[in-house]
Amino acid sequence: MNKNTFYLTTPIYYVNDIPHIGHSYTTIAADVLARYKKMRGFDVFFLTGTDEHGQKIQKAAQACNKTPIEFVNTIVDKFKVLWKELSISNDDFIRTTDERHCCRVKRIFQRIYENGDIYLGEYEGWYCVPCESFWIESQLFEGNKCPECRRVVERVKEQNYFFRLSKYKDRLLEYYDKHPSFIQPESRRNELLQRIRYQIEDISVSRSVVEWGIHVPMDPRQTIYVWIDALLNYITALGYDDNMQKFQKYWPASVHIIGKEILWFHGVIWPAILMSLRIDLPHKIFAHGWWTIEGQKISKSLGNAINPLHIVRSFGKDAYRYFLLREVPFGLDGNFSCNALIKRINSDLGNDLGNLLQRTLTMIEKYFHGVIPHINTEDNELREESRMTYEKIDREMNELQFSRALEIIWNFVGCANKFIEDKKPWLLAKTDGVREQLATVIGSLTLAIRDISLYIYPFMPTIAIEIQRQLGILKDDQPFNLEFQQGFREGTAVQKGKPLFPKVEFSEAYSK
Ligand code: ME8
Repeated sequence: MNKNTFYLTTPIYYVNDIPHIGHSYTTIAADVLARYKKMRGFDVFFLTGTDEHGQKIQKAAQACNKTPIEFVNTIVDKFKVLWKELSISNDDFIRTTDERHCCRVKRIFQRIYENGDIYLGEYEGWYCVPCESFWIESQLFEGNKCPECRRVVERVKEQNYFFRLSKYKDRLLEYYDKHPSFIQPESRRNELLQRIRYQIEDISVSRSVVEWGIHVPMDPRQTIYVWIDALLNYITALGYDDNMQKFQKYWPASVHIIGKEILWFHGVIWPAILMSLRIDLPHKIFAHGWWTIEGQKISKSLGNAINPLHIVRSFGKDAYRYFLLREVPFGLDGNFSCNALIKRINSDLGNDLGNLLQRTLTMIEKYFHGVIPHINTEDNELREESRMTYEKIDREMNELQFSRALEIIWNFVGCANKFIEDKKPWLLAKTDGVREQLATVIGSLTLAIRDISLYIYPFMPTIAIEIQRQLGILKDDQPFNLEFQQGFREGTAVQKGKPLFPKVEFSEAYSK
């Protein structure tokens, strides 16, 4: 693999529902990483998409009197609109109903069959339609409930094709052992290792009663199990196995970002399929935690599955992106509340960052007629702090520790604010003979804010652009300037605008 490439994916989302906060979390996290890696010079390929087959979607379409394809088409558009509104910069969007995907899945399935890893058998057990998951009796909760979503499962008895997952147990264990950072975070890796040691059986990979799916090539009465169909998107989107240019360039994936509840599929079944196909495994699978809303599980029946668009329209997309990644260490569970979001907006964003820009621009207007003074700041303490910030962020981003990266950036924002308090430019302005000193202080601040715009760009691209615009670096529709080294042109006129984050009053409309 070319070392300069970076391939990252989100899961492909079920289209039976309108996307909610949880879905946007995985996608935003992936977007932040994609933007970050692009900024640092990587050739990034960022994939997301939709998972459109299976019993759940077949039933949902029936319930609203639509054909499955009519039904999925309407929801896919909602995902696309949301990703646009959230500034998601994906390079491709794969749908499992795309012809490019379907024909490749068929060929791959046939190949696994020919490798001797798929065989015809009899399945008798339980199936959870909402989770599209097979369960054995001993895994169920009392009252025949799904261990994942706690809804009642269906009894299934049918002839199915099976994948020889159990054959790969030892190779998988050996692989986890040799690659300790393959599955992260560590706590989830340990859970997975526990489970695989006592519970790995061959799995059913086709359904005879589900019409809405990709037909099994050697037995068209059956459709391919939706999870096998879905997992293969990570390679079919790269053209595997008939148009291999992208595949050769980007595979193996640098990281699959997923939620914790689908780690078994990604950490066990997916690697075993790849082993069967003799394809290298991805470098990393990172399973993040789950969000609750105001302390409750997000669920359609509770009616709390807020559409992120509503939050974005009230509070702004960048504040939303910031909040999700700042509030909870990536990997742990979190709780969304509008109160907590408003607190972050008013303190971290408004007080710390917004005020820093406003105060600095006001001083440039007042002391230098709105023009950035000559900057001579090489040995300045803020420059040194910024260099350290740059290094530290990189360590955290490579570990997908987004909240820690943001803490480090805000530490630097704090340093810049403290610099103003320490240097007291308002006193310098009143003192004769220290004009050069005053220019140095203001110039240092300006450079620090420019650096901050770069540090926050992956998290808050719109605000980063606005900061550069107000600093006068960007004119009109110029693209965001990613250059750290570039200095300011002397005489750059600032364009002080509205505050970045006006104070938000707690609104009753969002108190639920
Ligand atoms: O699982 N908090 O799709 P999906 C955090 N189609 N993340 C959440 C969440 C919550 N409350 N609810 C959902 C599927 N997610 C399959 C994937 S990939 C080959 C097939 C996250 O639409 C969840 O963890 O149910 C997962 O990462 C993503 O949304 C997609 O969930």
